[in-house]
Amino acid sequence: MKTRIRTLLAGGTSGRECVITGWVRSVRAAKEVAFVTVNDGSDMAGLQVVAGKDLPNFDAVGRLGTGAALRVHGTLVESPAAGQQWELHATLIEVIGNADDTYPLQKKRHTFEYLRTIAHLRPRTNTLGAVFRLRSRLAQAVHRFFAEREFLYAHTPIITASDCEGAGELFRVTTLDAAAPSDFDQDFFGQRTGLTVSGQLEGELLALAFSDIYTFGPTFRAENSNTPRHAAEFWMIEPEMAFADLADDAELAEEFIRYLCRFSLEECADDMAFFDQHIEKGLLERIRQVAEADFARMEYSDAIERLQRSGTTFSYPVEWGLDLQTEHERYLSEQVVGGPVFILNYPKDIKAFYMRQNSDGRTVAAMDLLVPKVGEIIGGSQREERLDRLTTRMTEMGISQEPLWWYLDSRRWGSCPHAGFGLGFERLVMYLTGMDNIRDVIPFPRTPRHAEF
Ligand code: 4AD
Ligand code: MG
Repeated sequence: MKTRIRTLLAGGTSGRECVITGWVRSVRAAKEVAFVTVNDGSDMAGLQVVAGKDLPNFDAVGRLGTGAALRVHGTLVESPAAGQQWELHATLIEVIGNADDTYPLQKKRHTFEYLRTIAHLRPRTNTLGAVFRLRSRLAQAVHRFFAEREFLYAHTPIITASDCEGAGELFRVTTLDAAAPSDFDQDFFGQRTGLTVSGQLEGELLALAFSDIYTFGPTFRAENSNTPRHAAEFWMIEPEMAFADLADDAELAEEFIRYLCRFSLEECADDMAFFDQHIEKGLLERIRQVAEADFARMEYSDAIERLQRSGTTFSYPVEWGLDLQTEHERYLSEQVVGGPVFILNYPKDIKAFYMRQNSDGRTVAAMDLLVPKVGEIIGGSQREERLDRLTTRMTEMGISQEPLWWYLDSRRWGSCPHAGFGLGFERLVMYLTGMDNIRDVIPFPRTPRHAEF
């Protein structure tokens, strides 16, 4: 039975016999002894294997290539060397899969751009290893957060007929002749379908049965924006609460982000320390502050005023009625507030049809959470629960009611104030690791012209 290296290092006892498996990170061979660092992905550090001359394959071990796969049997002993507490004295080293010197991940440091071209191998690097470990733990923390609050975990469809956000970014799903899809009545579902841009509309239906629900699933957007913050396939967490308004929504979002910050600091301390040292100096302090801070709240109208008064020249215009761009979002959270800030009550004309209309007649109960470095990390709103207001707004926006009859039904029987938001999981991982590009926080990113691996 093999033991994971992380487990060995954490609960090490001298003299313990064990078996590990993993991949060679480095080999140093001398006449009498060879040192092989083995990493199994459970921990950044890896384990130093000490191979003595008495091993029958001692010479072959000394010539092992970086990247080779091994199974090592041995005894754990306290290491006399600095920088590590334990080493494994090998009694048997099985070479399971060799790697020659064409293996691209030799000792030298590679740029993230280069590593993207070898996405099939980059999980074996320190940085990407740490990012994907944190990503995995965070996903579990998301479920833990909602389980503690008795939210129902709901699975909403991936294939859908409705474009929730109304931005026309649906990837098409069809079995019709790719060259000439036209008669959707003949298509698999008998109608036009695509990959979901959000599970919200279905999430609302479930919230109106279970009170508090969340979804956590893949989301697809065919927006052709080649930025460091947009992916065509990303994961989104969408809670939805019945009997809740915009203030409740923001409160949940704030608790959620703080929880995830604390979780990362406490339960992923090694990897977080690595990010602090190698990716963004001061990261730990930044996350610590957020874990304890009260998030600021600012009206959209005030945000526009602050930007206009800032004396800063932005590339995009700042004017009441226009959407905020990343440069504005970052300015507000980085320069004006110096931390996370909710922007509340956006103009209705730049937001989706389902948002609750405010009594001023020109804004809706929307909220975005902006954070330093990333800009928008969460988008949410209170939903329009009044049937007449909703249908009027749909007519104004040219949205046909007929295909959304089921959504409108939810406003006919037992409608109640409800609210929710969407957290982009990759944006969260970027925020917590300091990584600058969304392509480096998901193992196999999907962006315009990139779907190779
Ligand atoms: O603001 P968005 O579009 O909101 C919705 O989809 C709502 N239906 C959510 C809800 O109220 N249930 O997207 C939510 C979040 C954004 O704040 C951002 O973090 C992330 O999803 N996001 C993306 N992340 C990566 N790549 C993209 N192309 C993204 N588009 C949105
Ligand atoms: Mg948004």
